[in-house]
Amino acid sequence: MKKVFSLLMLCAFTVFALVGCGGAGGGANTSQKDAAKTLRVGSSVDFAPFEFQDETQKEYQGFDMDLIRALAKEMGMDADIQNIGFDGLIPALQAKNVDVVISGMTITDERKQNVLFSDPYYQAGLTIIVRDDEESIKSFKDLSGKKVAVQIGTTSAEEVHKIEGAEVKEFNLVPDCFMELKAKGVDAVVNDRPVNDYYITKSGATGVKQISERLTAEDYGIAMQKDNKELQEKLNAALKKLHENGEYEKIYTKWFGEMKDEKK
Ligand code: ARG
Repeated sequence: MKKVFSLLMLCAFTVFALVGCGGAGGGANTSQKDAAKTLRVGSSVDFAPFEFQDETQKEYQGFDMDLIRALAKEMGMDADIQNIGFDGLIPALQAKNVDVVISGMTITDERKQNVLFSDPYYQAGLTIIVRDDEESIKSFKDLSGKKVAVQIGTTSAEEVHKIEGAEVKEFNLVPDCFMELKAKGVDAVVNDRPVNDYYITKSGATGVKQISERLTAEDYGIAMQKDNKELQEKLNAALKKLHENGEYEKIYTKWFGEMKDEKK
């Protein structure tokens, strides 16, 4: 009788343990599911109005930030955004530390050798910023013999390196380039036009002006791991959807004002 009882106890205990295990297994499953629902995003958060930090807000702000959150939502996911230096973004993708990069990143053939890009989502280009009293720089060719600040790893850095006689000074962050200009450490900054526009008109910058010549037409794209065709298709479908349902236009207007028809 005693034996039967202890056998019964053992059974009960086993069942209990198994149920317990099932519970723990369920837990593991849930967190796996959560991982599948999180889109890990890398961005160099130094590029207003695309990605920047506003001291009064807890979340990263900007066009790219709103766009990637809306795209993630469209794909049934949550965006988890990490701030990574611009020249560390593609390495972070390659190391699989992030799933996508959105960072005002220009689609270039060179980058395409290492990553996949979504369809273009914004068209930009490069311009020059100089101090107000600068008279000798009217175009890109005038940068020859001048000191020019650029962000490291960018298309600006690449373009200014091509100008013979230009002395290139590379900085980790875009705001550092502007500071160097004001401190007279350089004669000019070359950077993406919409960011320069924002710096001149919205950030309250004084003593600086933008040269009107625009170098290159550049398309921004969202970058992914080279073999992640599945995500590329999903992202492109989500982007198309946001264009169709007016969400893209809403985000565009919030950061840049009215959208011209050809961009719709
Ligand atoms: N469009 C340029 C490039 O791809 C500069 C991008 C810089 N982005 C940033 N978040 N700082 O090289």
